Amino acid sequence: MIPIIRNVKISGTGRCLPEKVYTNEYLETIVDTNAEWIYNKLGIKERRIAEENETTSDLASKAALMAIENAGLTPDDIDLIIVATTTPDRPAPSTASFVQEKIGAFNAGAFDIAAVCTGFMYAMTVGVQFVATGAIKHVLVIGADTFSKITDWTRRDAVFFGDGAGAIVFSPNEKGDGLITSKLGADGRGKFIWTVPAGGSEMPASETTVKERLHYWQMDGKGIYNTAVRVLPEVITDVLKAAHLTLDDIKYMVPHQPSIGILKETAAKLGMDFSKVLTNMDRYGNTSAGTIPILLSETVEKNMLSPGDNIIFAAVGSGMAWGAMVYRWV
Ligand SMILES: CC(C)(COP(=O)(O)OP(=O)(O)OC[C@H]1O[C@@H](n2cnc3c(N)ncnc32)[C@H](O)[C@@H]1OP(=O)(O)O)[C@@H](O)C(=O)NCCC(=O)NCCS
Repeated sequence: MIPIIRNVKISGTGRCLPEKVYTNEYLETIVDTNAEWIYNKLGIKERRIAEENETTSDLASKAALMAIENAGLTPDDIDLIIVATTTPDRPAPSTASFVQEKIGAFNAGAFDIAAVCTGFMYAMTVGVQFVATGAIKHVLVIGADTFSKITDWTRRDAVFFGDGAGAIVFSPNEKGDGLITSKLGADGRGKFIWTVPAGGSEMPASETTVKERLHYWQMDGKGIYNTAVRVLPEVITDVLKAAHLTLDDIKYMVPHQPSIGILKETAAKLGMDFSKVLTNMDRYGNTSAGTIPILLSETVEKNMLSPGDNIIFAAVGSGMAWGAMVYRWV
């Protein structure tokens, strides 16, 4: 449970998807895959791909400016920027520093969070504390990834991910409601279920690592599936209990978008009607840290949320790491 001294609301949402589209049919022409398999197993029809000169911070900055404007604020009002990403512009400095400069939020502190597909859940849960404790007012939380840059386009698991960024602003809420509760989990024993082996201190970049293609991500898809369908229902049950709510009280789940199979199995285990589980992976695939804020931004734009609606955010991914949050729309 987060000790809430001051209520916190999401005051603005935004998103940015690159223009370029890779359809399943296009992927059939470059890797050994099958469009129907991708749609049936993963729920993906197409995904967006960044241009060669388009960086994670480019997408993140556009999403951020949209969220700030929607919040009725200017970049000067932002006190802190947190970027969740696995595909930073550079290993150093933080992508949040790039964003800070690009959007001109020079009153803000800036740092990154690394929790791969659960990155946005971690960034939200960290960011919200600063507002809840009264330490600062407006926190910009961004989830942004360009996995196309670290994907081996000769392997068939290249079909899983897309590029994109989403952002929210957390602000104080004088009237109550907003954040209710949140929980994070992790199990480092599963750290290699999805990994980028080279480029860090364990295996610095070398001719060999490049030749052996070790700078691209590698995944044990079944390992992820088996853990995901265990931990997601558990953490969602935990936050519902802490919030003294049941599934009947929930309007929507706004989850990470790993695969349609994981989300369906999670809903089935919870006993949740799948129509309450929002998805957009048919158009964007898995944008890793970007999934939840992109989906939320679209949901808000479609006027699907009214004050008093309870929603659940939930994510699972490499680490393994997972988390969930209950939020009452303001
Ligand atoms: C990856 C995943 C879809 C595999 O599902 P599965 O039912 O276990 O599928 P299998 O591995 O048994 O493969 C079933 C068939 O699909 C085929 N297949 C596997 N990957 C494929 C691909 N990319 N394209 C086309 N066919 C593929 C296999 O060759 C196999 O064919 P066969 O039956 O003729 O041998 C599933 O485990 C999953 O959703 N994992 C989660 C992955 C994820 O969410 N990753 C991102 C989050 S970090």
